[in-house]
Amino acid sequence: MENITFYNGNEMPILGLGTFRVDNSDQCKEAVKHAIESGYRHIDTAMIYENEEKVGEGIAEALESTGIDRSELFITSKLWLADYGRDNVADAYATSLKKLGLDYLDLYLMHWPGTDEALMIDTWQGMEDLYKDNKVKNIGVSNFEPSHLDALLAQVSIKPVINQVEFHPYLLQQKLRNYLEVQNIHAESWSPLMNAQILEDETVQQVATEIGKTPAQVVIRWNIDHGVVVIPKSVTPSRIEENLNVFDFKLTTEQIEKLDQLNEDKRIGPNPLEFTGE
Ligand SMILES: NC(=O)c1ccc[n+]([C@@H]2O[C@H](COP(=O)([O-])OP(=O)(O)OC[C@H]3O[C@@H](n4cnc5c(N)ncnc54)[C@H](OP(=O)(O)O)[C@@H]3O)[C@@H](O)[C@H]2O)c1
Repeated sequence: MENITFYNGNEMPILGLGTFRVDNSDQCKEAVKHAIESGYRHIDTAMIYENEEKVGEGIAEALESTGIDRSELFITSKLWLADYGRDNVADAYATSLKKLGLDYLDLYLMHWPGTDEALMIDTWQGMEDLYKDNKVKNIGVSNFEPSHLDALLAQVSIKPVINQVEFHPYLLQQKLRNYLEVQNIHAESWSPLMNAQILEDETVQQVATEIGKTPAQVVIRWNIDHGVVVIPKSVTPSRIEENLNVFDFKLTTEQIEKLDQLNEDKRIGPNPLEFTGE
């Protein structure tokens, strides 16, 4: 496992397990447990996924079966738009912690910017309160465009450590990633496998055949080679293991460029400039 380092000196494993569209069921618990037992140290969930209880149970069982310490894990959850507003953040955070059975998160994200700039800034101030009170290790954002970050950075005192956004070879996000690099804010990709659609791409398959890896491993490695934190979701034990097995090779510059050229600025998720959560 490789780590990235935030501007505040804290580290985050570059690869984690995504849990979107995983029901609050034993399948969720088993996926999380299997991931940690296989070597994952980073799990991504959100209040709106409605699975924080089972994610928490999977974490608890894995801590017991592996004997590793909670401090070796990196757990992320996200604040949903319905809980925005500075005065609501602490309660929403406490609710997520309670469901997860944890006493702190490694990363808490504002899930979307929303369309009300004043509310966005006010909410971030609630995130800052949590951070200043040492209740959370790191605070960040998700789905923020440069225009959102411009507004945020102009008015707040603590910068987000990371921005989790849709990113895959059909959505290269070059302008946004350049912006983040200048600001020393890390990029993290959601739907890195384009919800499995990118695995059917001929170029991805060609590169996979060339190097004797699977299409999923190629795309996950492409994220890592771009320095982007990546959280592929799977509930299938063999795929959970396959997706972790990406640290014994690197793509060549030519292979990375070939994959970059697939860009079509194509999203599978909502447009962050318009999304209100409804
Ligand atoms: N911040 C946001 O707004 C936001 C939005 C969306 C997602 N996310 C986060 O990002 C994570 C990842 O995104 P995602 O869940 O949308 O999609 P994804 O990771 O791009 O794709 C998941 C799909 O790919 C399949 N898959 C996984 N590994 C595979 C492999 N090795 N071979 C073949 N198929 C494979 C999974 O199937 P099985 O599970 O059946 O194995 C599942 O159907 C989420 O789970 C969530 O944590 C965040």
